[in-house]
Amino acid sequence: MLTHYIQANTNGRLHPASEPSITPLNRGFLYGDAIYEVWRTYGGVIFAWDEHWDRLRASAGALHLPLEQTKEEVLVELRRTVAEYRVHVPDAGELYIRLQITRGAGAIGLDVALADKTNFIILVQPCPELSLEKLNQGLRLSVAKSLRRNPAESLDPAWKTGNYLNNLLCLREAKDRGADDVVILNRDGDVTEASVSNIGFVRGGRLMTPPLSAGILGGITRKLILGGIAKAAGFAADEVRIRPAEFPAMEECFLMSTTKDLVPVCEIDGIRFAVGQNTATNRLKAAFANAARAYAEAHPELAA
Ligand code: PDD
Repeated sequence: MLTHYIQANTNGRLHPASEPSITPLNRGFLYGDAIYEVWRTYGGVIFAWDEHWDRLRASAGALHLPLEQTKEEVLVELRRTVAEYRVHVPDAGELYIRLQITRGAGAIGLDVALADKTNFIILVQPCPELSLEKLNQGLRLSVAKSLRRNPAESLDPAWKTGNYLNNLLCLREAKDRGADDVVILNRDGDVTEASVSNIGFVRGGRLMTPPLSAGILGGITRKLILGGIAKAAGFAADEVRIRPAEFPAMEECFLMSTTKDLVPVCEIDGIRFAVGQNTATNRLKAAFANAARAYAEAHPELAA
């Protein structure tokens, strides 16, 4: 159910997202034959533009999906979409900007040769915000029992594709148990990530997060935290294998994603973690906010 206005741009045509857009023969719809990226703004500036673009290109390469637009052309289209969104919603705050690219449409069949040409769809809406109450309380997670993260040897979780069924079903299962989000394990029983976020823990004043080899999306938020934000907040950060048996020894847990930055987790299946003012998670979140502010100031050319 749609409760707010979402602006769409289908191959350059601006329209409300509630209106039809692609054909039923679109391969993104039929087979998940698509890739996507999500940017958000800070201070009206598109954050981590290059990093997300590079990941989009990597996903396109993995799917042998030709990108028809250049980086500059995509930026022009993102801006047109944001401008039209602001006509409909003049007082919008920070924005969520999604770029979905599909292989196009054609006769029914898996052969990529049946596809006509790639389609792009841009979606713009407010950047979703957790309530202050939830942010203070922290999220409740539950470990998925019936499904594991798809292994990197099949549909590699490092590719940001239009096929999220595995994560969607894991989330459904966790929500059924009353949790806010899910912890997904790989086939070795190691922690991978949550449904649309990377996961981190704090133990003995050190930050730890599963390595890319666990089979996860290489999140930009995670990368920025490992790449310097943790250090700026005064923490060492490591990529390490984490197993659920270690949860009771962890002091804190948090999720990382573009839309959430960092969100504290208060429990996983009844195992409690510290939340609140004096936590490492809070210091990391503040350091991330500083880095995002500095990025926005340094990149006026990315204002949308
Ligand atoms: N999700 N893991 C998964 C499976 C994700 O889908 C995402 C992002 C992340 C975090 O990556 P990043 O920090 O680059 O946003 C990790 C986006 C935000 C989404 O689907 O809305």
